[in-house]
Amino acid sequence: MTESHIMVFTLLAAMLCSLAFAFEPSPLQDFCVADYSSSARVNGHACLDSNLVQATHFTYNGLHLPGNTSNPLGSKVTPVTVGQLPGLNTLGIALARIDYAPWGVIPPHVHPRATEVLTVLEGSIEAGFVTSNPDNKLISKMLQKGDVFVFPMGLMHYQRNVGNGYAVSLSGLSSQNPGIVTVANSVFGSSPDIESDLLAKAFQVDRTVIDQLQTKF
Ligand SMILES: *[C@@H]1O[C@H](CO)[C@@H](O)[C@H](O)[C@H]1NC(C)=O
Repeated sequence: MTESHIMVFTLLAAMLCSLAFAFEPSPLQDFCVADYSSSARVNGHACLDSNLVQATHFTYNGLHLPGNTSNPLGSKVTPVTVGQLPGLNTLGIALARIDYAPWGVIPPHVHPRATEVLTVLEGSIEAGFVTSNPDNKLISKMLQKGDVFVFPMGLMHYQRNVGNGYAVSLSGLSSQNPGIVTVANSVFGSSPDIESDLLAKAFQVDRTVIDQLQTKF
């Protein structure tokens, strides 16, 4: 190889690596069942001794059960991430069931580590996300039973039941631990509060509006 060949090769390799690292890394063994009791610090959970691994570590029960939607949002998320299903550790994937009361809402939120693909199992659901600055374009759709919609990684999105009956959706997520940043909770419900003068300027409203919002989250 000439020097320029080596440079091109190195550049290509670097580009491929940066692409690959935009997603969770591929596992280096068949599985790595999460050992919740280990205090070892790794990116994810430490692996349980393979001799102790059983089928139950790869099993979650009860996703057919409706979540309790008696709350101000009228919705309930039942996650199946590495926190509930230890066998998901290092596999870069998770599920979530969402139940919606009539007109129930999943408020605007972001998954910092996952793309989400949602399918409607029951009812009619409005789903939407907003593109990043400067366009901030709203992409939204009314979905019926059997329809599928994808929320690209890192973008703010929401769902709403647009019917008078109950609705159910099932989501796949491209992370064992997608994380949820609910916009209202982050901005108005942080601990301690972000200073209301700062938020009043940021949102271009009177401080009393911010004070009111901060008491709600
Ligand atoms: C649902 O949640 C509400 C509010 O927390 C509670 O009062 C009610 O008992 C729950 N219902 C069931 C079936 O668990």
